[in-house]
Amino acid sequence: MTATRHFLTLNDLSSEEFRGIIARATELKKMQREGVSHPYYPNKVLAMIFAKASTRTRVSFEAGMAHFGGHAMFLSPSDTQLGRGEPIADSARVISSMVDLVMIRTFEHSDVEEFAAHSSVPVINGLTNDYHPCQLLADMQTWFENRGNISGRRVTWLGDGNNMCHSYINAAKLLDFELVIGCPEGYEPNSELLAANSDRVIIKHDANEAVANADLLVTDVWASMGQEDEQIERARAMAPFQLNGALLGKAKSDALYMHCLPAYRDKEITTELMANPETVIWQEAENRLHAQKALMEFLLEHSS
Ligand code: CP
Ligand code: NVA
Repeated sequence: MTATRHFLTLNDLSSEEFRGIIARATELKKMQREGVSHPYYPNKVLAMIFAKASTRTRVSFEAGMAHFGGHAMFLSPSDTQLGRGEPIADSARVISSMVDLVMIRTFEHSDVEEFAAHSSVPVINGLTNDYHPCQLLADMQTWFENRGNISGRRVTWLGDGNNMCHSYINAAKLLDFELVIGCPEGYEPNSELLAANSDRVIIKHDANEAVANADLLVTDVWASMGQEDEQIERARAMAPFQLNGALLGKAKSDALYMHCLPAYRDKEITTELMANPETVIWQEAENRLHAQKALMEFLLEHSS
């Protein structure tokens, strides 16, 4: 009997598994493009618990399960007993006795860990305050589709040392790339995670220095969900790290740039870069669908 595999951070995958999921995502994408149906998981059910808003994550998981011939169920804490104080452990035990996969988007990462500890089926982290690993599957798929292997390349993260930045640190280790984090003082990522990856991750408080020789620039909102009250001070601090034409011009001439979306134009990224017909940002968003289908397939095939 194989143990239940969860996907709470990228570290739940080996480097080979990560690369395998990306390759499979591109295959599934091709099948969908060519109209080859792939109902591999009829009657399988995915429960999706969303304690925070979502467009891409919800639509991609729900559409993905439909393509597989299965079903996705949207649950929000405000209309389940989770929001009325039913313990996470009890909820996990009951929900996982009825479905085949669970996806959770919430605030505390420890809540997802606790749910997984009591779940008999794979649990997927659909974003916590600390990590957003599903987005990295899509981002790396997008890189591989456009540029091939990312090993040895230089990626620059711009802005807040947030959940996405933490997942980029994990990706740098697994896929063997160099990560430069350009952020203002006081907005650095988690210091323990940084220390554990100090061989390949560096911090620069100067945006121009941060983007030098970069193959890929990545940014995200300056105030994440739950930080709405800090919008003004964050915008002031992070303004020098805006992803714009001038900064992009200082990276490598063929550098790509990404944003997980939603994007706030002329805050963390300019209208001009969002409107650029060459941008891979829309491909990156679509790849959430394909990457998560490959992830769900992987988890279903690798769990008892
Ligand atoms: N990038 C991302 O996770 O988007 P949603 O918040 O719309 O799911
Ligand atoms: N860092 C952002 C990502 C949104 C997809 C947030 O947590 O709100």
